[in-house]
Amino acid sequence: MDAIQIIATGKALPKKLVTNDDMSKIVDTSDEWISTRTGIKQRYFCDGEQNWELAFRAATEALNKGNIEKEQIGAVIVGTGTPDYIMPSMACILQEELGLPSDIPAFDINAACSGFIYALRVAGSLLQDEARPYALVIGSEQLSTRADMTDRSICVLFGDGAGAAIIKRNPEKKFYGVWGTEGNRAALGCRGHLTGSPYIYMDGQTVFRFATQYMTNAAKKVLELAGFTMDDIDYVLCHQANERIIDYVRKQFKAPEEKFFKIIQKYGNTSAASIPLGLAEMDEQGLLIPGKKIIIVGFDAGFTWGSMLLEF
Ligand code: ACO
Repeated sequence: MDAIQIIATGKALPKKLVTNDDMSKIVDTSDEWISTRTGIKQRYFCDGEQNWELAFRAATEALNKGNIEKEQIGAVIVGTGTPDYIMPSMACILQEELGLPSDIPAFDINAACSGFIYALRVAGSLLQDEARPYALVIGSEQLSTRADMTDRSICVLFGDGAGAAIIKRNPEKKFYGVWGTEGNRAALGCRGHLTGSPYIYMDGQTVFRFATQYMTNAAKKVLELAGFTMDDIDYVLCHQANERIIDYVRKQFKAPEEKFFKIIQKYGNTSAASIPLGLAEMDEQGLLIPGKKIIIVGFDAGFTWGSMLLEF
């Protein structure tokens, strides 16, 4: 398969900023506990906004920054575990709201926090129409609707947000990526309204062990496939669940802190949105410039996992 090239990025956050001190007014917690256990200092929660509206704003920014005509979009895929409706999908809502062509596939992928990585790979494989060479790939989440705001072990971890990327295939480079699934619904999940509590449940320590092991192995495999070492890579962007998980993975590679880009402190865990939000922030900081090599790597409920090399 050809490499996937990111052309432009966009991001969107809800207006309501919630600091750790704000969380301590809702549940029995503290800035000190949240900061030291997770690295999170603040997050954003939707307050009247819907998830698709975040996705719409992120997508519009990416389309505008890339100067991409809507007629050139050949697929739209949204990675999300918190869609506004069971149906239609977020992608279908965006097709209508953005005025995208009607002869293109539009669907969501639920691979939890790995959703954006899965969506990138699927979108890359769908692009074949020369008249529509780009795909719109989004990670967008409204975790605040699935986090029990009376459960301090869960509600402090998550945030809402969206990130978008316009991608195309690059026939001059090869695709290097891995993905997978390791069935386990006991440690992490959300059963939904029909079968029990609507909220996320998590055995944090089991998830921690899975995350560190699988993200490390996935990134190592991508390096091996591409014939690179960590020294050849400019940045690694992990799924932003917890700063301690990111640091653990970094230490397995003996990599310097600045190589592992982090946004967890500002946004909390935004699930499928965390990697595209991170890419958009890197873009804003001028880091996504030609020649740069970035590994993205994620994991989450399922368990799902995935990693990919992005070359700019
Ligand atoms: N504030 C204060 N105290 C708290 C809070 C809180 N927000 N949450 C839990 N505690 C307390 C617990 O009640 C417990 O108290 P006790 O010892 O009196 O019983 C104590 O802190 C320790 O609780 P643990 O759950 O054992 O805390 P742990 O050190 O494991 O940290 C954490 C929890 C941060 C979730 C950790 O397990 C972790 O990093 N897990 C990785 C998974 C993760 O980050 N998931 C994110 C979402 S999933 C995803 O994106 C894939």
